[in-house]
Amino acid sequence: MTAENDTFASPIIPNTMNILLLGAGGREHALAWKMAQSHHCDALFIAPGNPGTAGIGTNLNLLVTDFEGIKAASIEHQIGLVVVGPEEPLVKGIYDFFESDPALRHIIVVGPSAKAAQLEGSKAFSKKFMQRHQIPTAAYAEFTLENIEEGKNYIASHSLPVVLKADGLAAGKGVVIATTHNEALETFNEMLVNKQFGEASSKVVIEQFLSGIEVSVFALTNGMDYQIIGHAKDYKRIGEGDTGLNTGGMGCVSPVPFMDDVFMQKVEERIVKPTINGLAAEELCYNGFVFFGLMNVDGEPFVIEYNCRMGDPETEVVMPRLQTDLVALFAAMDNGTLIDANITYDNRSCATIMAVSGGYPGDYEKNKVITGLEDTSAVTDTLVFQAGTKTSENAVVTSGGRVLAVTAFGNNIKDAVALAHQRLEKIRFEGIYFRRDIGYEFEKNT
Ligand code: AMP
Ligand code: GLY
Repeated sequence: MTAENDTFASPIIPNTMNILLLGAGGREHALAWKMAQSHHCDALFIAPGNPGTAGIGTNLNLLVTDFEGIKAASIEHQIGLVVVGPEEPLVKGIYDFFESDPALRHIIVVGPSAKAAQLEGSKAFSKKFMQRHQIPTAAYAEFTLENIEEGKNYIASHSLPVVLKADGLAAGKGVVIATTHNEALETFNEMLVNKQFGEASSKVVIEQFLSGIEVSVFALTNGMDYQIIGHAKDYKRIGEGDTGLNTGGMGCVSPVPFMDDVFMQKVEERIVKPTINGLAAEELCYNGFVFFGLMNVDGEPFVIEYNCRMGDPETEVVMPRLQTDLVALFAAMDNGTLIDANITYDNRSCATIMAVSGGYPGDYEKNKVITGLEDTSAVTDTLVFQAGTKTSENAVVTSGGRVLAVTAFGNNIKDAVALAHQRLEKIRFEGIYFRRDIGYEFEKNT
């Protein structure tokens, strides 16, 4: 990174900062990789991190929800900036924890307050927010045990398919798209009466099914100003041709050919601006990433969900494409100069492909030795971001379902994907699986 890459009208940015990044996935490896390139980044710590982040900064053996441990580490390492990767610490109030402690208040925290994180933490909260600010989203109603009979009637007269969502965080499993009324009623019962997701399903949102193509847009905001920092299309199903079970994400491409200026203009005017204005009007304290999960319905964008963090594996394409200094952007977010930032991208196509453990998203085995991680001999323009990995007896072994993401650039999506495959062919672990069709619908002319 060069100084020209973070040109701000009023660059009131500390020369260097010690940074603490919370999380352990591919998203965090990509964020660590990006921040380490900034000349504003002094020492970089990652808690708990993974073997990939250990090659960039110093991993700290701390849980992301161990706020007292994070406090002690922040003081010990004179941290100036905390970047929160996953949603759990945000929904649990890590921003507020820092803000309310005189010993921590000076530290910039990238992530919203617990109240604002309800945009991700509660589907009912986010639907009401969108309704208040006329942000396009699927029609819906919400129910609890108190009005369960009303809910059953609502379902019985709803068009099919119908979407049922547990209100709270349910590790990505709280959404069911029911194709019959019986299935919808059973799911409703399971969530509400049998408390399938505990407290998270004590309220259920029932909404209209939107048919279209899902895309992700990312912004950085301080609740007043914002900058869009990238977009991507995620491939969520385990099987090729978008079949089989939903996963956390099997691969991404960026830029997305149909997300042209016309579409992005609609996204910005109808969704991003009203969201940021809504945060300001409701005095919701928000410093951090907003992940707009959108459905493109015949060229018109609708919000499927908000997340208060970056996506995974979206980060693994968004960060490599972003040329602007990310640490400088965080400082600008904090000091009110975000509006002056100059966002530039690598205009080549970028693709990432997730290698997962055989059996994922169901049961899978762990502790498989991974080889070929360092072998870049034949393939330049590729990056390997580790996710579900750990070190065991001097080897890197698998420790999760989504093991690593391989990102590659190309002159078009087809070339980027082909290059990622080439790199993946050099990586081995027992049971390795990845989709070979990421970006399949964009193979022609892009
Ligand atoms: P969420 O947890 O809100 O991201 O939902 C999980 C997935 O369910 C989304 O990524 C979509 O694929 C799908 N989904 C959620 N809401 C809708 C909807 N209203 N219409 C169609 N698909 C939906
Ligand atoms: N890739 C989707 C997510 O991070 O939620």
